[in-house]
Amino acid sequence: MLVTVLVLLVTLCALGGTAEERQEAQRPGHVSVVILGGTGDLAKKYLWQGFFQLYASQASSANTFSFYGGGLSPADSAKPVFFEILKAVSCPKDLSQERCAVLKEQFLRLSQYRQLKTLEDYQGLAKHVEQQLQEEGMTEAGRLFYLSVPAFAYADIAEKINSSCRPAGGAWLRVVLEKPFGHDLPSAQALAAQLGTALKDEEMYRIDHYLGKQVVSRILPFRKENKDSLDPIWNKHHIERIEIVLKETLDVKGRIPFYDQYGVIRDVLQNHLTEVLMLLTMTPPVNVSSIQEVQQNKLEIFSSLLPLGKNQAVIGQYQAYKAEVQKELNKTQDHVSLTPTFAAVLAHVADARYEGVPILLTSGKMLDERVGYARILFKNDIFCLQSQDSVHCKPKQIVFHFGHGSLQYPAILVSKNLFKPVQTDAGWKEVTEHANVSVLGLPLSDYYVQTPKVQREAYAELISHIFAGCKNNFISTENLLASWSLWTPLLSSLKGSFPRVYPGGADNGGMLDVQLKGNEISFNSKVVIISPDQVGRSSTDGFQVMQGKFRSAEMVSAWAEELVERLAADLQEAAEAAVRKEGVFHLALSGGSTPIALFHRLVLHHFSFPWRDTHVWMVDERCVPLTEAESNFHSLHDHLLQHVRIPYYNIHPMPVQLNQRLCVEEDGGALLYEKELGKLTNGSSFHFVLLGVGYDGHTASLFPGSKVKELRQSMVALTESPIKPHQRMSLTFNAINQAHRVALMVMGKGKHELITQLSRVKDDPEKWPVTGVKPTHGTLIWYIDYDALIG
Ligand code: BG6
Repeated sequence: MLVTVLVLLVTLCALGGTAEERQEAQRPGHVSVVILGGTGDLAKKYLWQGFFQLYASQASSANTFSFYGGGLSPADSAKPVFFEILKAVSCPKDLSQERCAVLKEQFLRLSQYRQLKTLEDYQGLAKHVEQQLQEEGMTEAGRLFYLSVPAFAYADIAEKINSSCRPAGGAWLRVVLEKPFGHDLPSAQALAAQLGTALKDEEMYRIDHYLGKQVVSRILPFRKENKDSLDPIWNKHHIERIEIVLKETLDVKGRIPFYDQYGVIRDVLQNHLTEVLMLLTMTPPVNVSSIQEVQQNKLEIFSSLLPLGKNQAVIGQYQAYKAEVQKELNKTQDHVSLTPTFAAVLAHVADARYEGVPILLTSGKMLDERVGYARILFKNDIFCLQSQDSVHCKPKQIVFHFGHGSLQYPAILVSKNLFKPVQTDAGWKEVTEHANVSVLGLPLSDYYVQTPKVQREAYAELISHIFAGCKNNFISTENLLASWSLWTPLLSSLKGSFPRVYPGGADNGGMLDVQLKGNEISFNSKVVIISPDQVGRSSTDGFQVMQGKFRSAEMVSAWAEELVERLAADLQEAAEAAVRKEGVFHLALSGGSTPIALFHRLVLHHFSFPWRDTHVWMVDERCVPLTEAESNFHSLHDHLLQHVRIPYYNIHPMPVQLNQRLCVEEDGGALLYEKELGKLTNGSSFHFVLLGVGYDGHTASLFPGSKVKELRQSMVALTESPIKPHQRMSLTFNAINQAHRVALMVMGKGKHELITQLSRVKDDPEKWPVTGVKPTHGTLIWYIDYDALIG
């Protein structure tokens, strides 16, 4: 039976690469499995069990195996612990006791512990493997390294594997990595880059064990098989809400050194719940087993998700956590940790199918029960006057029940007032005998229930995928970075926020109930139990928005968040005034990363911004196709335009690509933009121009040394940047200085040096282009955050 599962898996799973590579990936022979962190918690709980199951499933195949538990401790002390763990593995349910005993004995004989600390240790391991292959005349199929160690050790271990443990002769190398893969976008990028120097992408298997849960991996096939019933209702017109929930009763005692640095958002929401969200909302691929298609469709959803800010999350911390931290981290009694152990986050996918559908992701420790599920709750448009118990009056919902809770087994439940789902997977069955339990407000008998015939552990499942070289259920680099791009701004905006303290378990009562209002989420009750010593000062206390002068122009300064808030409010005020007076607002926006926070603020808070009467122009553009991530328009589109209701004909990207080439003088792109500007605006004047300043003092794409004077006549020009991409199109000082209002936005500690210099230099636009910004009739306001101002 286990063998059939694996064979089935291989046929279901599209293996990447060429036909030869695919053949190699499955070529029978000897397989060496090395678990680093082989006596650790995860190995003990799940990994050895998973590998034993793999071994049992392969017992009658042409493959042979060696298993190595690797660790930093010397073999003498670690060996007894190691064998205790191995002896405790249990028999798969479908094996007879006798057969299992034989297999277990073989498994123990094939396993050994090795200290793997230095490069010599790794070289020793490689030598041992090669010797064994030679002595026993075996062909090598591949080597599988499972890194169940803290992430900071990954790069070093990957390098050691790369330099000393690569198999020869076409055998495969697979390296499995456990989360955390970074703690934010920059660290995830750095880790991906480091690993990329030692391992090829196809050699890395990043595990998210939720993708190995039977119900989770059925989501896409279920959506496909039931396409006919789902297509008409799986959209904003019918879905009331999507909930993705992981509730846990345990605390994090014993894991605090790790957990306190991560918290629930990084531990569960960024990975497990986000993956479920992707499977629920992505367009089901034509071919469920095509890695490329699945990845592509996932990335599309990532790019349609509305940005997450402070108002899209609430956080909590169980009361005993503080004392646990003090104890495990050796801290004094006045130490306060702000790490959340509970979070509820409200997400929205801003595309035609899901626009406006609230998607709630929530997880926490020390809650009242252990349960994991995703629920699609549909709108019920039937009003029941009298017969409340009739089936048509009851909630309409589909529940993907991952496990635990009142039901205790994994299942997919479809309420009977929706449709009867088809059931084509031979590994699943319909449950017809309904225990007397209810699931999310409905008795089991009101659902069609499907459950796997045999329950399998997520890790065991994923281990069999790795062995089969099947990459569908692992996290690709792009997927990982897209997820961190979503979560990093939220994590930064929550920095310094105090979580609501909750007692834990049933005593939490309604304290963690949340209210969803439009795009925002808040706790439903205002009661906050906070012990007096939890009340601290946030770093922004005592500093409000400050007004002053900078380079003899007006300046507004505040901490980043308040500054962005203020700029957004000023922008809206200017827009409303222009629309009142002239019926239209012409806004020119710059690229770069500084304005992104402003765009998010506008999207999430300024619902009454008069987008319908706003024309959006570009301050500058890089000479790359607009579809590339480097393009300023591309970023503006992703962070702002696609999320607001602005008419297409009010959007004016710079024509950097004409005649299928980029920024060629003769194509006249700059002139074209200038003409459009002249045609639509009053005397080519913008109402508002938003600028940033680069480290070298450049603004728009006017760089030091640009022939500023030569540009005097034109409004738009092709310019050169010292950094790539070198060619740019930019508004000139002419165009900028005719504006009614110019805002110069400068943020971050990195800009402090620049601000200090700028406060001293005289106007010299050739050397410091930003000093050339001097509106002739309008006003200039500097928006500088305290980090940039004070350093
Ligand atoms: C892990 C988290 O990834 O997932 C844990 O680190 C969490 O904090 C666990 O408890 C939940 O997994 P499961 O399979 O028990 O739902």
